[in-house]
Amino acid sequence: MRTVVVTGSASGIGKATKALLEARGDRVIGVDIRDADITVDLTTAEGRAALVDQVRALTGGRIDAIVANAGLAHNTPATIGVNYFGTVATLEGLRPQLAGSAAPRAVATASMASLFPVDAELVDLCLAGDEAGALARAAVVADGDDANVIYSSSKVALCRWLRRNAATPEWAGAGIPVNAIAPGMVETPMVADLIATEEQRASIRELVPMPLNGFMGPGGPAALIAWLISVENTHLCGQVVFIDGGSDVVIRGESTW
Ligand SMILES: NC(=O)c1ccc[n+]([C@@H]2O[C@H](COP(=O)([O-])OP(=O)(O)OC[C@H]3O[C@@H](n4cnc5c(N)ncnc54)[C@H](O)[C@@H]3O)[C@@H](O)[C@H]2O)c1
Repeated sequence: MRTVVVTGSASGIGKATKALLEARGDRVIGVDIRDADITVDLTTAEGRAALVDQVRALTGGRIDAIVANAGLAHNTPATIGVNYFGTVATLEGLRPQLAGSAAPRAVATASMASLFPVDAELVDLCLAGDEAGALARAAVVADGDDANVIYSSSKVALCRWLRRNAATPEWAGAGIPVNAIAPGMVETPMVADLIATEEQRASIRELVPMPLNGFMGPGGPAALIAWLISVENTHLCGQVVFIDGGSDVVIRGESTW
């Protein structure tokens, strides 16, 4: 039996991933700020340290996969605290506990919002590991005209962290594929207020075009995560896999593949 740690397990994509993995026979340790096996706040140093300690206590320090999925979409500094620093702390903090696995795997949840404009200074502060600086910058951005860039900046920083680290001795060199998914609009509590009315849904469709089957439920992203952390995934390295109904193709066209 494989043991998997899933953050953000109380809702949405994390909840669907936990259910899917348990249905296929994995042991899942759910992590969230509420309603979880391990209840921690991933914006805090104490919460991140408690995550590592409690996973070790529950598993004897032997896990097979990390799903770093918890996230926030508020125009506040906390979004940087969870989506970037909490996610990286989850991946780096739990990585040593993958050492005993025959098929160690890790995946993070990015977003198609990584295609949107960002605050470059905020992204750079994230990648420099300057959490205090990044939170201070996010507070300034939150008071400005385009506070939405806090979310996209958190996901761009995460994707760049992935590209920077996936091929290093700590990850690829240790036999650990680490990748990310980039969903389009997924109908979860996170976005419920954004797509409550038909008028709102129409304006989100302009922003996030999904010609292939439109908005989705959390089951598709969960199935992709399940494959990315499966034994079968031996060679995907540092990929951001868009599961977005085509928004990446519409927005970026032939400029990347
Ligand atoms: N829903 C979408 O359209 C969409 C699109 C692209 C990417 N995503 C990403 O998918 C991931 C999951 O989002 P979702 O849509 O399932 O949202 P959700 O709100 O349903 O679930 C997110 C979970 O993360 C938890 N969480 C938030 N802050 C936390 C903290 N400080 N410490 C611990 N846990 C915390 C929440 O309690 C919640 O259970 C996020 O990273 C999000 O950015 C979502």
